[in-house]
Amino acid sequence: MIKSKWIILCMLAMIIMIGAGTIFQQSRPQNEDPGIGPVKNVALGAIDHKMVTDGKKLFTAKCLLCHDLDTKKTGPPLRNITKERKPEYIMNLLVNSVEMQKQDPYVKDLLKKYNNVIMPDPAINQAQARTILEYLRSVAK
Ligand code: HEC
Repeated sequence: MIKSKWIILCMLAMIIMIGAGTIFQQSRPQNEDPGIGPVKNVALGAIDHKMVTDGKKLFTAKCLLCHDLDTKKTGPPLRNITKERKPEYIMNLLVNSVEMQKQDPYVKDLLKKYNNVIMPDPAINQAQARTILEYLRSVAK
């Protein structure tokens, strides 16, 4: 009798834990990793169209070779990257690629998925990276 009470209690506890886990996951669609590098806080406002134009040019020149918006090329598709990653992560990856690839857990994981193809340092400054971020925000669905 006592034993079966314990079993029921344990089962209840497990159900509650699994339920809480699911809710917790659902409330975190974007991962919280700010990446590693000089970019600590990106203030986002309404989309800035001037920046989008500049960012699109840079993206075409420096990223399109390996990244399509919707299909996987040498690198992952980037249409909704601004919904999946924090702006700080994206900018740090662009201005601090080497360190990010060595130390950031998400990038290390990605590297494994992309056969260890290392994304080359795009050699752009923070202001340029910010325009690419703006372009990527503008294409997200
Ligand atoms: C020579 C190919 C190449 C070029 C050029 C390139 N990338 Fe990448 N990129 C990759 C690969 C491969 C990965 C995944 C593995 C890694 O991180 O190295 C990646 C990963 C990324 C990620 C991380 C995605 C995630 O899910 O976290 C972002 C963001 C990104 N690239 C943006 C850019 C931007 C913006 C440019 C242009 C400035 C660019 N890349 C240029 C190959 C490239």
